[in-house]
Amino acid sequence: MSEKNVSHTKWMKRAIFLASLGKNTTSPNPKVGAVILDKHGTLISEGFHHKAGMPHAELMAFNNLKKDAKEGSMYVNLEPCCHHGKTPPCVDKVISSGIKKVYISIEDPDKRVSGKGIKQLKEAGIKVHLGLCKKEALDLNKAFIHRNITKKAFGVLKWAMSIDGRIALKNGKSKWITNEESRLLVHSFRAEFDAIIIGGNTLRRDNPLLTTRGSKNPEPLRVIFTKSLDLPSKSNLWDCNKAKTLIIYDSSTANEDNLKRIPKSVEVEKVSSDNPVLISKILAKRGCNKVLWECGPRLATAAIKYNCIQEIITFIAPKILGGENSMNPLSDFEFKEMNEIIKLHDSQFSLIGNDICVKSSFKN
Ligand SMILES: NC(=O)c1ccc[n+]([C@@H]2O[C@H](COP(=O)([O-])OP(=O)(O)OC[C@H]3O[C@@H](n4cnc5c(N)ncnc54)[C@H](OP(=O)(O)O)[C@@H]3O)[C@@H](O)[C@H]2O)c1
Repeated sequence: MSEKNVSHTKWMKRAIFLASLGKNTTSPNPKVGAVILDKHGTLISEGFHHKAGMPHAELMAFNNLKKDAKEGSMYVNLEPCCHHGKTPPCVDKVISSGIKKVYISIEDPDKRVSGKGIKQLKEAGIKVHLGLCKKEALDLNKAFIHRNITKKAFGVLKWAMSIDGRIALKNGKSKWITNEESRLLVHSFRAEFDAIIIGGNTLRRDNPLLTTRGSKNPEPLRVIFTKSLDLPSKSNLWDCNKAKTLIIYDSSTANEDNLKRIPKSVEVEKVSSDNPVLISKILAKRGCNKVLWECGPRLATAAIKYNCIQEIITFIAPKILGGENSMNPLSDFEFKEMNEIIKLHDSQFSLIGNDICVKSSFKN
């Protein structure tokens, strides 16, 4: 790599780093960072998108300018927008600034606008270089890209299990399998998500809180998927002061009389079947890029079967629950041959005290 390319990569990596600072707050928008150099190649400004409704990264960088950007260059990890949304088009601002070169990692995944921002920049006589640090940029915004392309939320399935692969005793008791450090990590890790999903049975058995314990404001939306609507009249999830709760129920099987038990502060939406894709679609439509499935084996298996899951995070504790009838993290996929089994990819391992955390991806 030539010295020039190294410095282009350095500036784009800086833009990607800045973008990552908006990690938990930009949904439904992407994470974007921008760097501006003057005509001599000196850094004169930078910025990132903080939150939906607030200025885009390019505008933040222009607002922070220390010197004239005329004949300078910009590094931005996503194609600048050319449409009027909550904020004016960034392309207009880039053109009027007199910037001569724009380095962009990836095009906007939204097919309606993809390439149009680049076209406008080129038509204004600006040199555009596309593809710098493409892999890192795709990875940073994988959930946003997934939602835009599939119209479904990017799903991560999480479970905690013993070393013999069990998530609960036969009687349903599961507190606690992993150590305190792992459980605290789960609370803060929830902040990466726009929604957390469980099934009705986990609600009945565990009565969870499903919050980040304050590391995100607003807290992720808590979602319960139920076929029966047989939900308790008292539950931690009915207190919506700290976090909002949404019940999604299958109207083909649910007893709607049970809705009387649910407080008005809880939102309710009905769907026509128990297909978990319907949840992914509803949440994507609400602007959720990334959702966490913290459900038990039955809903988790259905979510995998219907491609609602893109990553799995497993916490494994050095404990033995034993017993043929203690609970598995997943139920039956009815595989008959070993070539039918699901192979996961890109696994990463970390140690949390005595527990192991494994993160793997599905190849969709
Ligand atoms: N260790 C861990 O990481 C962990 C995590 C989560 C859960 N768990 C344990 O898992 C147990 C519950 O397991 P579970 O499998 O019954 O979990 P679940 O998360 O409650 O999922 C099953 C429930 O989801 C609803 N559902 C909606 N559509 C469905 C579909 N297509 N397929 C299946 N279910 C659908 C049904 O609710 P309705 O019955 O209301 O209709 C069903 O009973 C609990 O004992 C809990 O402690 C452990």
